[in-house]
Order: sequence, then structure tokens, then C-alpha cells
Amino acid sequence: MQRTKVKDLLQGAEEGKEVLLKGWVRTKRGNKYVNFIAVNDGSTINNLQVVADEKFSEESLKDITTGAAISVVGQLVASQGKGQAYEVQATSIEVVGKADPETYPLQKKAHSLEFLREIAHLRFRTNTFGAVFRVRNTLAFAVHRFFNEKGFVYMHTPIITASDAEGAGEMFRVTTLDPTNPPLTENGQVDYAEDFFGKATNLTVSGQLEGELAAMAFSDIYTFGPTFRAENSNTTRHLAEFWMIEPEMAFYDLKMNADLAEEFIKYIIRYALEHNREDIEFLGQRLAEEDKSKPQQERQEMTLLEKLEFVVSNDFERVTYTEAIDILVNSNHYKKKKFQYDVSWGVDLQSEHERYLVEKHFKKPVIVTDYPKDIKAFYMRLNDDGKTVAAMDILAPGIGEIVGGSQREERLDLLVERMKAVGIHEEDLWWYLDTRRFGGCPHAGFGLGFERMVQFVTGMGNIRDVIPFPRTPQNAEF
Ligand code: 4AD
Ligand code: MG
Repeated sequence: MQRTKVKDLLQGAEEGKEVLLKGWVRTKRGNKYVNFIAVNDGSTINNLQVVADEKFSEESLKDITTGAAISVVGQLVASQGKGQAYEVQATSIEVVGKADPETYPLQKKAHSLEFLREIAHLRFRTNTFGAVFRVRNTLAFAVHRFFNEKGFVYMHTPIITASDAEGAGEMFRVTTLDPTNPPLTENGQVDYAEDFFGKATNLTVSGQLEGELAAMAFSDIYTFGPTFRAENSNTTRHLAEFWMIEPEMAFYDLKMNADLAEEFIKYIIRYALEHNREDIEFLGQRLAEEDKSKPQQERQEMTLLEKLEFVVSNDFERVTYTEAIDILVNSNHYKKKKFQYDVSWGVDLQSEHERYLVEKHFKKPVIVTDYPKDIKAFYMRLNDDGKTVAAMDILAPGIGEIVGGSQREERLDLLVERMKAVGIHEEDLWWYLDTRRFGGCPHAGFGLGFERMVQFVTGMGNIRDVIPFPRTPQNAEF
């Protein structure tokens, strides 16, 4: 007999037939005559109710406790009770894997997200994390679908690299040298010439540089892989290991880049709304519940669903960095000295500034362009004013920066000049510079932080709750 997933059973296609159902017990309630077992197999947020009537002895049901894995044969029938359209009238139930109620940590009551983070190996079995990771899966699929439909080539860029794409020095070293006794050079430095790769290597912070090489042949490419940053940021928006999507397009300028990013974000949100509506509704209710305990002014103006519908059906706001600074400096918030960090032309926007722009001023996603060159990476294209670069960040309500991108500097002399200014050696990036020597062309791209996107769609406040096993400072459990 073939197993049917709960999601399909709940659609009733096999009504009246004998079915085989496998999954994990969420709850069991009942009495001497009848027991109701709620079973979930991860295919949907909804449980399937299994009815065990008096032919099942109490003894035979004693191991059917929360968390146990069971296999059920029975008839799929329209349910008499409320709450579900279909249920299974069991003819046999096998306990495949017991879960001792004395020690199984997930009991029926609601657990805090902090507690669940400590048992991340089991938290998939809760409604909240079931919903979050189904949405994450759908978003990942939608990413590939979007780019595939547009004829982009999916590129696998290296995880181990010798370069620092962002030039920010936030890298995890990769080495096989003995840390207690490394080979040393004459002047006492660790001699990486003797290391596995014959040079110092690290985990990649971004696949962009290699992505650019591929775009110079395929026109439009994207990467979707893990990236690593050894920044010591303990925030609700930073991970040491996160997934990034980085499209790179030849013959694109900044405006085309921004248009693509906006279309992309709307597409994947719309796809999740269409395919995971119940999960998103559940997560929305969870947020609304959480909101009730907050002071009035901190509560959300829109429900999660309303927010997502709003984002897909409205244009993103577009402003230059210079305009954004003017807005901030002229705000009442600024005049009342409510920002912790000062703002003036030339400073990097802090997350409080970004959030003011999106949440208070525009109340929608904002694309900020043309930042001062000194606060952005070396590869961004210098604008004619000589002070700003063709950069763009997309800021999202509740999240802040969700996308970072730019038009790239395709002019060899200007690129080399910029690298010199920030201390990047030409010899180390000879291959990158070759694309400017041979058939170079204007091109652009961006990076979307996948976990921040998942946070936006699920409404989860902490980035540790949208990746299965988060890597953050002082934490690499599981
Ligand atoms: O702005 P970033 O650093 O840009 C790049 O890496 C470029 N190479 C992208 C490109 O143009 N191809 O990072 C891009 C995005 C950020 O906007 C943010 O969403 C996410 O990656 N991000 C992080 N997400 C989680 N944890 C971190 N520590 C992150 N750092 C960046
Ligand atoms: Mg950035």
C-alpha cells in the first residue's frame, strides 16, 4: 500500500478509500470509547485527525504520545466534527518510534522562540517552524523559477577563495596548518605558502566577483549559495553563515538593475502567497498575538498578509542617498534628537535611519541609490560627480537593508585607481581585471540576503529563526 501525505488526504481525493498515513503525533485526546489523534507529517500546517474507536484498547494506544512516529491504516471519511473536512477512521495503528512523554521536550503548550532555538533539532516539529521552513523552501524554489524563466544561468561560485570580494576583511580563514605549530616565514609570519592551497584562503563573503566573470560570457547569471562573514554582530539581522542570491547582468545599468531587483522581490513574495497561504496566515496570527503584548505605538499597522499584498502591488520608492540624508536631517525625529547616531552627508546609514525612512517616512520598500564612494565597495562604478557611486540598497519595512547592489566599474583605469586607494593588490585580482581588458562592458548586479527575505515574508523578528541551524558568534551547535 502506498503512503499518502496529509496535505493530499485533507484535499479529500481518496474519500471513502483505505489509506496509509505516516507521521508524528501532535496530540491525543479522548476517553475509554474513542480517541482522536492529530497527526502531522510536515506536508502542511494542518493535522489530520485519526479516530481510534473502542476496538482499540487503552493499552494499545498508550505509546501514542506527543512526538511519537506512527503509521496508520484506515478509511478516509468526511469528518463529523468541526475543524477539519476529512478524518481517518483507523483500522490499525503501529507505533514506529516512541517519544517518552517524561523526556520529550516539545509538549502541547506554546514554547518560547528562545527555548526552541536551544532544541533546533526538534523545532521543525512545531507549527511555527513548520510554516517558516515551508515558506523558506517555496521562496528558494521561486528564486530559481524567476531566473530560469528569464533565461539566467545558475552559476556555482566557489566557497573557498583567496579573495575578499567586499574588501571588508570579515573572513573566516580556511587552513589545514597546525594552529599550535604553524610553519613560519623568515620574518616570523605564518607561512601560507605551505598551506593546503599554497596561499592564504578563506570562506567566501560573496560570489559576486566570480559571477561577474560568468556574466561576461552568458550575459545573465545568478548565484544562490552560502556566504560567510566573520563580523562580530550580535543582532537580529546578522548571521555568520547566510545564503545569498547574486544576479549579475551584462549590458545593465543601475536603473535596469533596480527594476530587476524590484520585479524579483515581488515575484517571489507573490509565489509564496500563492503556494503557502495557510502558512503565512498562521504566521500572521502568531504575530498579531505577539503584538497584543506590545505598547500601542509599537504595534504593526498592517497584518502580515496585508503588508505582503501591499508590497507586491505598489511601486517601491526610489531616492538618492543625498535625498535620503535631506529627509532624515529635516525630520522631526532628527530635530528632537531621537536618533542615536548622527546623520550628515557622507556617513553610512545606520539601521535606525534606514528604518525611519521605510517605516515612518515612506511606509514601503525604498531603493536608495548613489551613495558616497568612500562608504561602498571598490567595484562600484564612479558617478560623473566624482563623489558618489552607482550603488543601490533596498530597504524593507521591519528589516532594513535586504538588497545591496551596484553598477560595476567597467573602466580599467578607474577600477585600478580605486583598488590602489583601498589597498587591494592588482596581482591578487588579475583575473577580475582581465574582464575589463578583454571585451569589458557596462554591467550590474545585486545581492539579496535570503534569510532577511524569509524574515520579511514570515514576519519572524530574529534571523536565527529562519535558518535551520544558525551560525552566530559563540554558537555553532548542531
Ligand atoms: O550588501 P552586501 O554586503 O553586498 C554584497 O555582498 C554584494 N557582493 C552583492 C552584489 O552586489 N552581488 O550583502 C548583500 C545582502 C545584504 O543586503 C543583506 O541582505 C545580506 O546580503 N547580508 C546578510 N544577511 C545576513 N547576515 C549577514 N551578516 C549579512 N550580511 C549581508
Ligand atoms: Mg550592503
